Amino acid sequence: MEEGKEMGSRLVQELVMSGRDAPTSYIQRDPVRQINSPPHTSAQVPVIDLNRLSQSDGADESVKFRDALQSWGLFLAVNHGIPGSFLDEVLNLSTEFFHLPLEEKQKFANLVDGKEFKLEGYGNDIVLRDDQTLDWNDRLYLLVQPEDERNLDVWPTNPVSFRDVLHTFGMNTQTVRTQILRAMAKVLKLKEDCFVKQFDEKANMYARFNYYPLCKRPDLVFGLKPHADASAMTILLLDKEVAGLQVRKNAEWVDVPVFPDSLLVVIGDGIEIMSNGIFKSPIHRVLANSEKERLSVVMFSALDPEKNLEPLDELIDETIPRMYKTVKTKDYLADHFKYFAEGKRTLDFYKI
Ligand code: OGA
Ligand code: NI
Repeated sequence: MEEGKEMGSRLVQELVMSGRDAPTSYIQRDPVRQINSPPHTSAQVPVIDLNRLSQSDGADESVKFRDALQSWGLFLAVNHGIPGSFLDEVLNLSTEFFHLPLEEKQKFANLVDGKEFKLEGYGNDIVLRDDQTLDWNDRLYLLVQPEDERNLDVWPTNPVSFRDVLHTFGMNTQTVRTQILRAMAKVLKLKEDCFVKQFDEKANMYARFNYYPLCKRPDLVFGLKPHADASAMTILLLDKEVAGLQVRKNAEWVDVPVFPDSLLVVIGDGIEIMSNGIFKSPIHRVLANSEKERLSVVMFSALDPEKNLEPLDELIDETIPRMYKTVKTKDYLADHFKYFAEGKRTLDFYKI
């Protein structure tokens, strides 16, 4: 079977089950030895208590929060209001989906008749170039909001409660997002709704379920190659047992620790642009693992695709220049798919 020509062969999980070695298209051409070099820093990913952050006596938490957004671009959120038992359910159902037989998952595939690629559904990266380096993961990608634009053809009906649980998780994530956007405005001393109101009823939320199968050569391939998120903000529910996500901080890769019942909040390029560069969209990556499979559920929030993405007026004046060009959200996302395939950073093309 020629690689990449048939649906099944593009799935990493199927590749692993076939017992074949990683095809060359997965192997990183950059200095590979760097993949597993341990960090020298003792810096630790910040943990923010969202409940404390919203309280009037939460000034110390606000200082930590601001520092997390400016110098890390991400933080682990605790006391976010979503019960741990519900988060477990989301993780368990997601694992169950990826463990279904191939034929069952393919009912929700992102390839039409094995060829035409759709953004949503179950599958792997879109292959745009012959020399593209692929990542060691399969995923299910679904538009969750706006609700009336959902493409239910590719929403799993197996496990049976999958759709309901994803719907609820989408609502919960939106509440957490709102809390964070308000706190962001507060630490910048801006009107409390200045970020929130950018996310109107047409704002998009996508769910991406990432499944990282075992990999015999984690020294050669990435679970997910280094990138920044093109979203405005990303909220991740990470595997409860298996680490693997790393963030670039002061020219080093720092591990995001396993932290049950927390959510990881990552600033996307959108918030970096809106905040005129005050909050940073971090580069991050996922290592492959030779012993354990790994799962993550990632909720990407972006603005209405037709809405312009640009620095907030309140953050620009005669002394503070505008740092980014204006771009329509959907054009930015389209650029991101292209540049991600080429291993380039989209934001660099929009800096002034
Ligand atoms: C992503 C991402 C991290 C992870 O999907 O953009 O960074 O741990 N995922 O799966
Ligand atoms: Ni990411």
